[in-house]
Amino acid sequence: MQDQISEQKKAAIAAISNAAALDALDEVRVATLGKKGSISGLMKGLGGMTPEQRTEFGPLLNSLKNEVADAISQRKAVLEMSALEDRLVSERLDISLPVSEHSGGYIHPISQVMDEIAEIFAALDFDVAEGPDLEDDFYNFTALNIPLEHPARQMHDTFYLKPDENGERKVLRTHTSPVQIRTMINQKPPIRIIAPGRTYRSDSDATHTPMFHQVEGLVIDKSTHLGHLKGCLEAFIKAFFEVDEVKMRFRPSYFPFTEPSMEVDIGCSWEGGTVKIGTGNDWLEILGCGMVNPKVLEACDLDPTVYQGFAFGCGIDRLAMLKYGMNDLRSFFDADGRWIKHYGFSAFDVPTIARGLSR
Ligand code: DAH
Repeated sequence: MQDQISEQKKAAIAAISNAAALDALDEVRVATLGKKGSISGLMKGLGGMTPEQRTEFGPLLNSLKNEVADAISQRKAVLEMSALEDRLVSERLDISLPVSEHSGGYIHPISQVMDEIAEIFAALDFDVAEGPDLEDDFYNFTALNIPLEHPARQMHDTFYLKPDENGERKVLRTHTSPVQIRTMINQKPPIRIIAPGRTYRSDSDATHTPMFHQVEGLVIDKSTHLGHLKGCLEAFIKAFFEVDEVKMRFRPSYFPFTEPSMEVDIGCSWEGGTVKIGTGNDWLEILGCGMVNPKVLEACDLDPTVYQGFAFGCGIDRLAMLKYGMNDLRSFFDADGRWIKHYGFSAFDVPTIARGLSR
């Protein structure tokens, strides 16, 4: 018996160290320690022995079993490590190689246009501000002079969430204007920000999607006036459409958060089937703006006898469509590879004022 045990041990240890891969090692495990394995067979033999033999061979067999199990697990660790090393070598990537322009992956026109807008306003000394998509009623409506029963609430087809335990309902922000409020509450004037981002309304057709994008602008200082607003928007539109001249029309309008309020149209022509921005006899409405309503300043704890300023809000998707010639807004969000390949931008086309926004 003793001979058998030491033979088994020798054979098992040799087989374990000869196992060149994890599956071969597992075969050794099954052949020795598995249910029908050789060592398990010897263990079963204990049942038919006399008590004296059992006291003698029991511990020997047990230590055989343990030694073989240990040898297997040590070998396993070695083989696993070398398998990992093989993988690391075979999957090695040389990240210092130049990236191919055609390696796939495109910047979505919306991202590109947001970068262009941020670049234009950065040159005018504006910061980029952000706010949450999931907004409090206070920031989205009340502080913007749209109290609960205000008819303007019906102008926005709002997505409301279920009320919380205090009965307050969060909303998916219907515009980027709540970022004005967050900025004025958190920051002392002078303020000069734009706030690009996602906005949501329950609306869907060729020119409306339930999720869309806006950029908000806000300037607050002691003597900011309507002339500054007009100059700022003219500089923006010219830079964005990359034209030297642009006809602009400021039409009186109404927004609860501005007084006076205006909508801005830019001149265009549709000759030849494509839109040309800047000149021509047609008009395109592109944004809403105005002087910040004193009530909004008060809601943010700013003294309206000291501070004043202007704000504007503009749909980004529409700007992208006009500049880059897409005609169905819904295709922006279809995630169609052919579309993004056609309309998307290379990650290398980072818009800069110096190099040109769109090249
Ligand atoms: N928040 C408005 C909308 O979504 C757009 C807007 C108009 C924003 C006038 C402004 C503004 O800041 O002054 O319809």
